[in-house]
Amino acid sequence: MQFTSQILSNAEVSPGYWRMRLTAPQEFAAASPGQFVMVRVNGAIDPLLRRPFGIFDVATYTPAHAGAVSQPCFEMLYRVVGKGTAMLASLHETDLLDVLGPLGRGFDLGVPGEEKLIVGGGVGLAPLYLLAKELVKQSAVRLFAGGRTRDDVLCITEFERLGVECYVATEDGSLGERGLVTEALVRRLNELSGRASLFACGPHGMLNAVAGIAEQRSIPCQVSLEGYMACGVGACLGCVTPGHKHSPETPDFRCVCAEGPVFEANQLGWGC
Ligand SMILES: Cc1cc2nc3c(=O)[nH]c(=O)nc-3n(C[C@H](O)[C@H](O)[C@H](O)COP(=O)(O)OP(=O)(O)OC[C@H]3O[C@@H](n4cnc5c(N)ncnc54)[C@H](O)[C@@H]3O)c2cc1C
Ligand code: FES
Repeated sequence: MQFTSQILSNAEVSPGYWRMRLTAPQEFAAASPGQFVMVRVNGAIDPLLRRPFGIFDVATYTPAHAGAVSQPCFEMLYRVVGKGTAMLASLHETDLLDVLGPLGRGFDLGVPGEEKLIVGGGVGLAPLYLLAKELVKQSAVRLFAGGRTRDDVLCITEFERLGVECYVATEDGSLGERGLVTEALVRRLNELSGRASLFACGPHGMLNAVAGIAEQRSIPCQVSLEGYMACGVGACLGCVTPGHKHSPETPDFRCVCAEGPVFEANQLGWGC
């Protein structure tokens, strides 16, 4: 679905990280956790390509005019890394954006009742909030949030408000415990008696570590990938990533935008 969206708010929530709320058509309310949008960051040709962003939240808002009824809206959490995201950060309330979405395959919510462990690093927390919002309806949910410094640990109070138990680790020790968030994850897994499943989004190294932990313990694990994309709809193959059967003799690739961005971790070729 392609639509013109109006910006309802756009604010810096931590140095370099922004949160934008946008209007959406009624059908957008059915977006599932882990899906993404492709945004044309301006009306001119530079940058030409849309930029992909996870859907942080789907909610409703009531327009300011008399007799207005509530309408769907959605939020993105983004980090300014280059030209496109810098342009997004310069936009204001009432500016318009061209949006394509919701796109891709999101998270499978898994078996109700078993513990859900969510792991996110930096802006990788973006698609995990909507996931947590759904998971808390059926299971105990714990979030393991990591970053280099406290500035990379975003929106924790909002996860807590959902009833999610949050563990924070930063590499410099400026928030939570010092070290990698996967260390806290392993401690929790060592304590666990019942069944659990893992959900992760963040830098490749963190996903690789989480996938390894899940494999060692035979725990179901889904990861959301945030690599490069051009078309976002399966047409250009610019986003492919090696699958678990990949080798130079037998190429096995997954198209992240059309088959993902969420994959079972054991379906991907981590060592390739
Ligand atoms: C499915 C999906 C969901 C995503 N969700 C989010 C999100 O919720 N929030 C968010 O902030 N970002 C997200 N990203 C990443 C985001 O799309 C890029 O950061 C953005 O496109 C960069 O655009 P730019 O024009 O600012 O940067 P560019 O000018 O294109 O690049 C600037 C620098 O960033 C590097 N870069 C650009 N894109 C990526 C990337 N995908 N991975 C690693 N390095 C990159 C470039 O190599 C370059 O060094 C997502 C990506 C995907 C594929
Ligand atoms: S970005 Fe074009 S096929 Fe995925």
